[in-house]
Formats: sequence, structure tokens, C-alpha cells
Amino acid sequence: MRVLFAYPNEVADPWLVALRLALPDIAFSVWNPSGPPVGADAALVWRPPKALFEQEPTLKVIFNLGAGVDALLATDIPAAIRIVRLEDAGMALQMAEYAAFALARLSRDFDFYEANQKHARWQPARGTPRSAWPVGVLGLGAIGRQVADTLAALGYDVRGWSRTPRQLEGIDTFAGAAQWPDFLARTRVLINVLPLTDETRDLIDHRCLSQLLPGAHVINVGRGETLVEEDLLSQMESGHVAGATLDVFRTEPLPADHPFWRDRRIYITPHVAARTLRIESIAQIVENLKRLLRGETLRGVVDRERGY
Ligand code: NAP
Ligand code: GLV
Repeated sequence: MRVLFAYPNEVADPWLVALRLALPDIAFSVWNPSGPPVGADAALVWRPPKALFEQEPTLKVIFNLGAGVDALLATDIPAAIRIVRLEDAGMALQMAEYAAFALARLSRDFDFYEANQKHARWQPARGTPRSAWPVGVLGLGAIGRQVADTLAALGYDVRGWSRTPRQLEGIDTFAGAAQWPDFLARTRVLINVLPLTDETRDLIDHRCLSQLLPGAHVINVGRGETLVEEDLLSQMESGHVAGATLDVFRTEPLPADHPFWRDRRIYITPHVAARTLRIESIAQIVENLKRLLRGETLRGVVDRERGY
């Protein structure tokens, strides 16, 4: 079996060394766009150009080096190629940590102390109880579940929303369009961990935001296109939404003249909420390659119709 590594801007050697050590019978190599085809059976990819599929028509499986496959599905990938994504692979814990940080920053007034430090101002805040910060997690998949569980373990009042009904201990769960209004009506801190699909694009819009509890806060760690940015700004203008913690944006990198940069109610990180971890990712891909060699079912296969 021949497997290509097609992750531009990533140092390939540490990946190849570990992969060759784990699977010495597989021929791993780095994709060379200007070289001859190698007759690859599989490829490890992140945002691969169409040229990869034109050059390697024998590809049967691609392993996405991330959880989200929106960019891949937007590329014209031959229908016969199976797309496999990372399932958690160390991202869920990072995301839970990010969400806990963003929530504690608000609920424990750390944003207030950050601002005060600039003026050497020593001023303890009055504080608010955790019950004042009901959380709603959008998406209860490999990552969203851990976000919800972690915040519930920290004592926050947490609910979650998914496409199909899910059961999680200690968490109120809601599903589909029918339960959307009830979910929003009990949520003050809305955390988006949904994949980007035709159904989730522009989901967090004016109508959604206006149904949240007053003083709402949006934490977006899913994809930028799920949030209508102008609607967030207008809801903040009206005072209904107090602020946002944003890791993903409709345009990345976020343009220097974007109004979000200058709004102190918005906390920005550059799409780093949950990074691809090499060791965990390799372990998951090696397990799947072994399954492929044995002719077994792969884990994490993307349903192209569903879009995730
Ligand atoms: P996942 O395991 O596929 O879970 C997706 C969840 O979203 C599922 O609970 C699914 O519902 C729900 N969902 C999908 N479409 C929906 C819809 N139309 N209505 C309601 N719920 C819907 O995905 P994951 O591994 O948790 O990853 C989620 C996303 O996080 C990725 O797709 C990616 O965009 C993002 N991400 C961001 C970063 C970052 O650094 N910012 C890092 C990693 C991932 P069901 O349970 O009913 O299927
Ligand atoms: C990162 O955004 C991912 O989808 O893994």
C-alpha cells in the first residue's frame, strides 16, 4: 500500500518517522505536486488542492488531519474516495479547556480585571453566581460532548443541542428545529461546536441571537460561517448580546480592518481552540490503516450527504 502525506506548511518528517515505525510495510511519502504519480491508495491531507486528486486517480481513502471537513467537501473530490476525519484525537479536551477559559473569564470577572490592570486599578468585583450563566452547547459530537460535560462538571447549568436526539448525564438535551426555541430561551452563553454544513451556515443570526437570555455571550469555536457577523454586531449594539469569544471567522486570517478587532467586548483567538495533535492523530490514523489492510470498517468516515 502507498500512502501520501499532503499537508503543506507542516514539517513532514516527524509524521513520516512515526508512521513508518508503526507500519513498516506501507510505503509513505510526501506528496510532490510537480513529481510523477506514485499510485497512492490513501493520503493524509489538510485542505488539499484539486491537483492531488488529478495526479493520483488511484486514491481510495483520504484521512483529513482535522475534525471539520467543510473545506474538503467544498473541493471536488471524486465520489469513490472515502473521506475519514479525526474523531477527538486530543481536540475535545483542548476545546473543553478553551470553553472553560472563555466562560470563567466572564463569570469570574477576569475580563474586568484585565481591563483594570491597564490602569493599575485594584478593584474586586462583586461576583455573580454560576446560575447566572446558563450555557447552551451547539453540537454534541466528539468535541461538543466533552465541552458540555466539562462545563457541567465545573457546576454550570448546561444544555446541548444536536440534529438527532442525544442523551448525556446531567445535561438537558434538545434536538432539531422543533426544540431550537426552547434551547435558546434557556441559554445565556451560546457555544458553537457544530460542523459547517448547508444547515448550519448562518444559523447564529439575528433571530437566533434575539432569543437568547439578555446579556448573552457567544463563543464560536465551530466555523466562522455559522455566525452572521453583522447580526452579532447589531445585537451587541442593542445591548441584548454583551460580547463574544471568537476563534473562527468567515474570513481567515481576520482582516486587519475588521470591526471585531477594535471592539473590546470581543475576545479574539486565531483558530487555535483545538489544534491537530501529531501523536494522537497518528495513533488514530495508524489504527484506521490497519483496519484498511484487514478489510475492516474504518472509524470516522464522513457522510457526504449529511456534510459531516
Ligand atoms: P461531530 O463529532 O461530527 O459532531 C457534530 C455534532 O453537530 C453532532 O452532535 C451533530 O448532531 C451536530 N449537528 C450537525 N449538524 C447539525 C444540525 N443541522 N443541527 C443540529 N446539530 C447538528 O464533530 P466534532 O468532531 O465534534 O467537531 C465539530 C466541529 O468543530 C468541526 O466540524 C469543526 O468545524 C470544529 N472544530 C474547530 C476547531 C477549532 O480549532 N476551532 C477544532 C476542531 C474542530 P448528531 O449528534 O445528531 O449527529
Ligand atoms: C480545525 O478547525 C479542525 O476542524 O480540526
